[in-house]
Amino acid sequence: MHNNEVRRLPNLGFGLGLRTDHYDSVIAERPDNIDWFEILSENYMVDGGKPLHYLDAIREHYPMVMHGVSMSIGGADPLDRDYLKRLKALAGRVQAAWFSDHLCWTGVDGTNIHDLLPLPYTEDAVSYIARRIKQVQDFMERPMLIENVSSYLNYKDSSLTEWEFVSAIAERADCYILLDINNIYVSAFNHEFDPQEYLDHIPVERVGQFHLAGHTNYGDYIVDTHDHPVIDPVWDLYADAIRRFGAVPTMIERDDHIPPLRELLHELDRARDIARPILEEIAA
Ligand SMILES: [Fe+2]
Repeated sequence: MHNNEVRRLPNLGFGLGLRTDHYDSVIAERPDNIDWFEILSENYMVDGGKPLHYLDAIREHYPMVMHGVSMSIGGADPLDRDYLKRLKALAGRVQAAWFSDHLCWTGVDGTNIHDLLPLPYTEDAVSYIARRIKQVQDFMERPMLIENVSSYLNYKDSSLTEWEFVSAIAERADCYILLDINNIYVSAFNHEFDPQEYLDHIPVERVGQFHLAGHTNYGDYIVDTHDHPVIDPVWDLYADAIRRFGAVPTMIERDDHIPPLRELLHELDRARDIARPILEEIAA
């Protein structure tokens, strides 16, 4: 499919990653400055119980998208049919606008090491992963987004840059990209490339969602721990991303040291405040 035939995903607005710590506040306060939630798929791929109870109650009031960590789309093992069946059932339950997973591998021979490992950026890997994404997307009957992960190492075999790799896979698989702005910042720092150059080479129509998160800086390297507020240089990069990609659904992703909901809403409002004037300028 040629670039300009790609249909852009709907702009859902400004969302949050749904976390168990916030279930009660979301239901009690039903904040209207959250436009949508991203749920962690694996938390709800269960047969019953409290998580599904809360999920259904919250879904009544907010659109949802799904984010997974276990597909291992870049792994050598065959795709896990049972996992995909359960993922599809969940997508039907919450009427997910789309689902995403990471551009990585998470283990071999059926062992999930629960880490998002980077891939060698080669043509072979592009074809292999694009083929797998097509299979998954056909089965799921919903758009799939692949997320750029942050990395701390490079493979000697890599013949492409990370942005070439991500873009080629999205084009070849005809899927979308979940651009994690913090991960770009982290990888740019660790591998000493220009994050702006990364943004400039990602095809605009392919970007369906942004993640914003905090990280831990160890001086010589940065780890995307998702346990801090978003830092100023990442907000600046987000502004650059809005300038290039336009109105893309944006969310704050916090996985650890989860603060009260109102603190995250404050960060989400900051994203709105950054995006609004840029989008108005583009529209004018
Ligand atoms: Fe992310």
